[in-house]
Parts: sequence; structure tokens; C-alpha cells
Amino acid sequence: MKKKILVTRQYPPAGIRLLEKENHVLTIWDKSRSMTQDELIRASLDHDAILCTLTDRIDARFLDQCRHLEMISQFAVGFDNIDVKHATQLGIPVGHTPGVLTRATADLAFGLMIAVARKMIFNHKTILRGEWGSFNPTGHLGVELKGKRLGVFGLGRIGIETALLCKKAYDMDVIYCNRTGNPDAEALLDAKPVDFDTLLAKSDIVSVHCVLSPQTEGVFDLKAFKKMKPTAIFINTARGGIHRETDLIQALEQGLIWGAGLDVTDPEPMSADNPLLDMETVCVLPHVGSATVEARSAMSVLAATNLIEFYKNGTIPHIVNPEVIKK
Ligand code: DGY
Repeated sequence: MKKKILVTRQYPPAGIRLLEKENHVLTIWDKSRSMTQDELIRASLDHDAILCTLTDRIDARFLDQCRHLEMISQFAVGFDNIDVKHATQLGIPVGHTPGVLTRATADLAFGLMIAVARKMIFNHKTILRGEWGSFNPTGHLGVELKGKRLGVFGLGRIGIETALLCKKAYDMDVIYCNRTGNPDAEALLDAKPVDFDTLLAKSDIVSVHCVLSPQTEGVFDLKAFKKMKPTAIFINTARGGIHRETDLIQALEQGLIWGAGLDVTDPEPMSADNPLLDMETVCVLPHVGSATVEARSAMSVLAATNLIEFYKNGTIPHIVNPEVIKK
């Protein structure tokens, strides 16, 4: 069945080729920026489905005006940019791309831990400023990760993979805080479930891997940072809205925690004059957790496959709101 699909960015070619092979007619937004919501609404009006991503605002306003859409295929595992409840009410199925970016994102969380612990970005910047100087026996001192305790907030696929890396590389003890218990992961990691306050108090590194939801929005606020060890490192590769940025700045300035590694900020992009960018024990990256050739290509294939299967068989391999299909 030939369909008109709006493709909101230039996604990796592997998935695009699959859609073209199925003879779907694609309109590809080829600018280097995302569409504004008005552009997105206008463009969606004469399409059957959209292939979109986390910078596209698929909220109630969009959905009410584009209720004709047969499917929304999200190029990302997270879907907090989509009002899924509203899409479900309108009977629009939403697909996403879990699993294929797990390794890439876990690698980045792990890398951020080392980058922060050894002040890598800050030290690099001293060279750019011509401040290398000479070998300093008491300068540039970081901390070691071996044998430390990792606290995972949100023990899903990426949290588990990150914990495995930490365990294998540094023999870290793992504790976790999750909505539900995860006995398989507990066995795999010898991990212990704890409540939020215990996670904060006992972890040397807290790594955030949960979804952004009304329950998790802003949970890492000043009150939470005050409960952490002054030597602790805070890592967030999930969504910027899960921590309160001004509170994090305050916590670092006051020495409530030692350092932070962020792949996500709120808002994105972070402003270039944000004080976090000048801090010695902070490393901020521009939301690149899934940015490997392998992961992005696999995400493109999965997002395309979700559409192709939907139009061929009425099923979506990775669906966010399966109740819509069952109806
Ligand atoms: C996701 O998939 O949700 C990441 O944040 C971007 O790849």
C-alpha cells in the first residue's frame, strides 16, 4: 500500500531506502534545523504518516490538527515529545526504536563518568587556553572509579548495560531505584533495590536512566543533591528535565556533590554561557548518547520497519500504545 510519509529530518539512509523500496512516497525535510510546530502541522496535513524525532513537538495542538494521521513513527526510544495519551484517544498508533541504542548510550554514560572523574574536558580546555604549564605533581587531580558504588535511577535496558560496564571495568557495587523490582537484573548485576533516599545517600556515582514523566520531572533538585555524598558524581544521559539545572549548579558551586556529566540539558541546546560549561568537574555533551553510526542506522531501520509492518500487516513491532492496534 503506497502511503505519503513526512520525514521530519534527514535520517540515516538505511531506513529511508527500506521505505522507498516499499514504494512509499516520502517528503524529506532537508534543512539542518527541526521544523517549527506550525511548519510541522502544515507539512503533515497532506501526509498519511510521519517519521519524526524528539525535537518535533507532537502535542495536543498538533494532534488535534493532524488527527487524520494513520501512524506516528518516532526515531528515538524516548517519546516525551509526544502526547501519547492524546494520540491514543485519537486512535493514532505511535512506534519507537528501543534496544538498538542501548549500547551506544551506556557507553556514553560510562565515558562521562571517566571524563568527569578525571576532569578531561576541563583539562583539554586548559591546553586550548595555552595553560598547559609544566607537569604539576599536585595539579589536575581527579578521582578513581575502581570499587565505587553505582546508583542506577531507572534500571531498564540502558541502566542495566551501564551497570554491567561499571561492574566489569571497575568492579562497582550496584544499587538501583526503580518503579518495579527487576529480579533478572538483580541476578545479573548482583544489584540491590533501594529507595530514592538510600540511592542518593549511598552512591558514589548516580546515573539517571529513567524516562521523563510527571513522576520523574525535576526529581534531582536541591533537596536531592543535599542528600548525596559531597564526593558523588551525577550522570544524566536520559532527559534534561529529570534534574533541575539551577539546583545542580548550586549543588556543584556549594560542594554538595563533586561533579556532573550531562548528555541532556533543559532546555536543549544549552546556552553557551551556562556556568556548568566552565566548571572543572563538569562535562556536558549535546545529546549524543545514540550518536554512533551503528545505533543511528539501526534506529532508522527500526523506525522504517515500524511503518512498513503497520501498512503491510497492521502490526507495529515496537509500539508505545498497543491498545490502539487491539481496538
Ligand atoms: C532517544 O532515543 O530517546 C535518545 O535520547 C536519542 O536517541
